[in-house]
Amino acid sequence: MTSNTAGRTPITVLGLGNLGQALADAFLSQGHPTTVWNRSAHKADRLVAQGASRAATAADAVAAAEIVVVTVLDYDTVGELLRSAAGTLAGRTVVNLTTGTPGAARELGAWVADQGAAYVDGAVYAVPQTIGTSAAFVLYSGDEAAYRKHQSALDLLGEGAFVGSAPDLSSVYDTALLSGMYGMFAGFFQAVALAGTEGIEAGAVTSKLVRWLTGAVEALPGFAEEIDRGEYATTTSNLEINAVGLRNILATTEAQGLSTDLLAPLQRLFDDQIDAGHASSSLSRTIESLRAGR
Ligand SMILES: NC(=O)c1ccc[n+]([C@@H]2O[C@H](COP(=O)([O-])OP(=O)(O)OC[C@H]3O[C@@H](n4cnc5c(N)ncnc54)[C@H](OP(=O)(O)O)[C@@H]3O)[C@@H](O)[C@H]2O)c1
Repeated sequence: MTSNTAGRTPITVLGLGNLGQALADAFLSQGHPTTVWNRSAHKADRLVAQGASRAATAADAVAAAEIVVVTVLDYDTVGELLRSAAGTLAGRTVVNLTTGTPGAARELGAWVADQGAAYVDGAVYAVPQTIGTSAAFVLYSGDEAAYRKHQSALDLLGEGAFVGSAPDLSSVYDTALLSGMYGMFAGFFQAVALAGTEGIEAGAVTSKLVRWLTGAVEALPGFAEEIDRGEYATTTSNLEINAVGLRNILATTEAQGLSTDLLAPLQRLFDDQIDAGHASSSLSRTIESLRAGR
């Protein structure tokens, strides 16, 4: 059911995969005239039945709206679709919510600007089911004037935050935030595998793990402060004690016949700092091993 469309900016959504469908739903349900296009055209059927306009080509879809939201497989695909619409891009705002690399965002942002269009890059922190709810947030970067102009429409997807005018900044944040997520997943796999060697089911260890990690996450802002100051003195938890703890975990992992692939690299980073004379420094000093590169 669409609400009143009076005064709402027309929006095009290119790409109706899992995320694109949810984005189009959010715009449509709040009364934005919404044009949709997808390579597999049948994915537009439900939205068209609810009031969206179907475009025959990506170029037609771009021509239909001031705001062009793109969410497809990768940046190569985004580039391909936008190139097919190059003649109609001028004066529009491209909001690219596809996940990619900072380099790809810089390249695409420069090309879109060359076409006379505004480029806003975005990173979505939601699953399709949480789009439009208070659980969703989106980081945007690029053309700030275009972002501010269309902020109220974009806020329909989830709480937006503008992180800077360089087009690649949201992608830089995205790479960092997703790295943190994959690190957490690595810890989860390690915990479940280790408990499983003694017949403990994944569900049983996970309920304890979630409680432990929810508390542990509160240490991060303190670590961040130490890192930003470059001062690693601690009376809380030093590198040496953590290195001993991690060595115990690795020994147990090996003894239980599991791979140490996930955690052994972290031990090497701890050891590099200890070898350099920083055994009594905060665990947060591990960042310096990463910064030193390999
Ligand atoms: N799903 C999420 O929870 C989520 C959250 C945050 C960010 N994202 C990001 O959003 C983007 C889309 O994710 P998704 O989950 O919606 O993926 P998806 O369901 O797999 O959809 C992929 C979309 O890309 C299209 N596509 C693939 N190759 C194409 C080509 N060569 N030409 C034209 N269109 C092509 C697909 O079209 P067809 O339908 O024709 O195959 C489909 O519309 C990704 O960058 C993803 O990382 C997703």
